[in-house]
Amino acid sequence: MRSDPAQRNRSGSPIVPDHTAVIPRHVAIVMDGNGRWANKRFLPRAVGHEQGVEALVRTVRACVQRGIPYLTVFAFSSENWRRPEDEVSKLMGLVLVAVSRYVERLAQEGVRIRIVGDREAVSEKVRASWHKAETATQHNSRLTLSVAFNYGGRWDIVQACQRALADGVPPAELTEARLGSYLALSHAPDPDLFIRTGGELRISNFLLWQAAYSELYFTDCLWPDFGDAELDAAIADFARRERRFGGVEPAASSISQGT
Ligand code: FPP
Repeated sequence: MRSDPAQRNRSGSPIVPDHTAVIPRHVAIVMDGNGRWANKRFLPRAVGHEQGVEALVRTVRACVQRGIPYLTVFAFSSENWRRPEDEVSKLMGLVLVAVSRYVERLAQEGVRIRIVGDREAVSEKVRASWHKAETATQHNSRLTLSVAFNYGGRWDIVQACQRALADGVPPAELTEARLGSYLALSHAPDPDLFIRTGGELRISNFLLWQAAYSELYFTDCLWPDFGDAELDAAIADFARRERRFGGVEPAASSISQGT
């Protein structure tokens, strides 16, 4: 993964590849390990999720500081409904608390919030809360935080196909780009760096389409412990990868902070 030598910065100088300062344009994170974090401390799992919100806010700020324009996080999967009712309801309650506690501050910091996922199944209260978060931040552009909630990669591909069919798109015109425009994350470029915390080595139905060429980074760090240092470690690892997107030449896909 290196900068294209033809690319130039705003003052017209060629961008010099600098592996100490190459940052991804889009980071996606599976925030796993809240439950284990709490279990290790003999605390209820809900406390792990509360700390998970703190880690999320920390990470959003760290991304803003590093000039990363897109962050997408997996907050609630289509499969998480299988959890005990009490845990599901605590997670839903946490949405309301997180929105009322943090959205205004994140808005002031230039963060735009977008929710990706199936909103039909969530309660009216949660829907209203997401609506508030999206409208309060809709004019921001420093960092777009996409929160995947009641989301699954397979759901996303199916809903995109259904909407394209409903629009009458002829089969021959259903190209990758056309289908991509119906996907829930069509407002963002594909993720460059895909992080999963909590030690599991799988992508768990997150961004199946979009992560086709993402660099994968797995860490044992439990999500509530994630912060600046862990993000920097992931970025440093990413900066050492050579991305070819199926070709033979290294390709540019990230932001160089070099001159
Ligand atoms: C996985 O940990 C985490 C989740 C299912 C929830 C993620 C949610 C947050 C981090 C809070 C952010 C939420 C909002 C409202 C934006 P786990 O419970 O599977 O942990 P375990 O694998 O250790 O059991």
